[in-house]
Amino acid sequence: MAKLIIEGGKPLEGEVKISGSKNASLPIMAATLLADGECFLDNVPKVWDVRSMGFVLRTLGMRVEEQDGRFKIIPPKMLHYEAPYELVRTMRASVLVLGPLLARLRHARVSMPGGCAIGVRPVDLHLKGLARMGAEISIKEGYIEAHAKGGLKGARICFEKKSVGATENIIMAAALAKGKTYVENAAMEPEITDLAGFLNRMGAKIKNTGPGCLEITGVERLKGTFYRVIPDRIETGTFLIAGAAAGGEVTLKDVRPDHVKIITDKLKKMGTSVDIKKNSMTVSGKKRLKGAEIDTDPFPGFPTDLQPQMMSLLCVCRGKSVVRETIFENRFMHIGELQRMGARVEIRGNSAVITGVEYLNGTSVMASDIRCGAALVVAGLEARGETCISRIYHIDRGYEKIEDKFKSLGARIKRTS
Ligand code: UD1
Repeated sequence: MAKLIIEGGKPLEGEVKISGSKNASLPIMAATLLADGECFLDNVPKVWDVRSMGFVLRTLGMRVEEQDGRFKIIPPKMLHYEAPYELVRTMRASVLVLGPLLARLRHARVSMPGGCAIGVRPVDLHLKGLARMGAEISIKEGYIEAHAKGGLKGARICFEKKSVGATENIIMAAALAKGKTYVENAAMEPEITDLAGFLNRMGAKIKNTGPGCLEITGVERLKGTFYRVIPDRIETGTFLIAGAAAGGEVTLKDVRPDHVKIITDKLKKMGTSVDIKKNSMTVSGKKRLKGAEIDTDPFPGFPTDLQPQMMSLLCVCRGKSVVRETIFENRFMHIGELQRMGARVEIRGNSAVITGVEYLNGTSVMASDIRCGAALVVAGLEARGETCISRIYHIDRGYEKIEDKFKSLGARIKRTS
């Protein structure tokens, strides 16, 4: 199986282009199910999760053509209504086809996604929201069976907890429902704003009416359109953190600085210099940084998807750091691997207390999910000696050409099979 081998301790220098957002591309691809014409998507990253969503759409009857990050997605005469287990189990985000299928076909059968390495991750909020819109939902043999005989109807939905996926499913369903849907306590991640931007371009009527509040007026039909996906803020954050961890000077191109403000603010506080321009930013880390306190939170808070990478950096900062994970109950799988590299981290409930060491030592480690894998790359870049990361298929699910990008910055990193 493929591995990444990193010879650490080399400062990073140069420029890197940030890819389009994986987590915006996935719901936007699912939303093409709502269109009655062709959709063209640009700046879609070449990562496995995007391929998986392509497979799901094809299974539902869509024609999906891809060339260099540009997608042409063409609807069939008749959509199929079932997303099978074999596809959904490879990527939880496949459940995002539920809302669009229900809105278009009034019937959907989608495999339950199941748990994953970072937690149980239920979909109850998706289902409760759709039920409020008139769907009859049951779980049979591991499948979500949903019917909306008279079509979905606008409703008032107040989420008891902020959920990115549930908000996306409801927005998509509401776009073609009868009447108005009001969503309260909606997640407001930039990927959701991007999905709403895409839907509005297709003819939907989605308004942001206040913090966590959305108003969606259902329309009769949505047309095909062209859309360019936003830059990936998690990849941006990963390269910012890696630049700060390895030292040197790294310029990130094609970024949205407003989407990563909490990260740049935190890195500056820790002693990194970050020079921010309109679409680019330069991070330079020359000296050992100060530790920090981090709580993960929904946007605009610190993203849980950057918590593992940040922890790799904090492991070699001065003094004590504390990281509190408030989104997922089991997102500390990287800690055991970092400890194998010499990190001093103690887990107390949902917090990790880190006592900074001067350096980590390279060794063999294993990725257990996408961001754990990215954290191990950051750790490998800052460590002394050789780090060998296995199970890198997790990294390939969410990062485009990670070793080529780091190699272009001078890192000693290679893929072996
Ligand atoms: C999305 C992102 C993922 C990110 C996460 C949180 C995609 C494809 N994935 O995942 O990378 O880490 O947001 O920012 O965009 N929950 C429930 N019931 C539900 C739904 C969620 O209890 O029906 C809980 C989850 O278990 C979790 C929390 O709500 O504890 C947030 O999850 P959610 O925002 O839904 O994450 P995803 O959409 O799955």
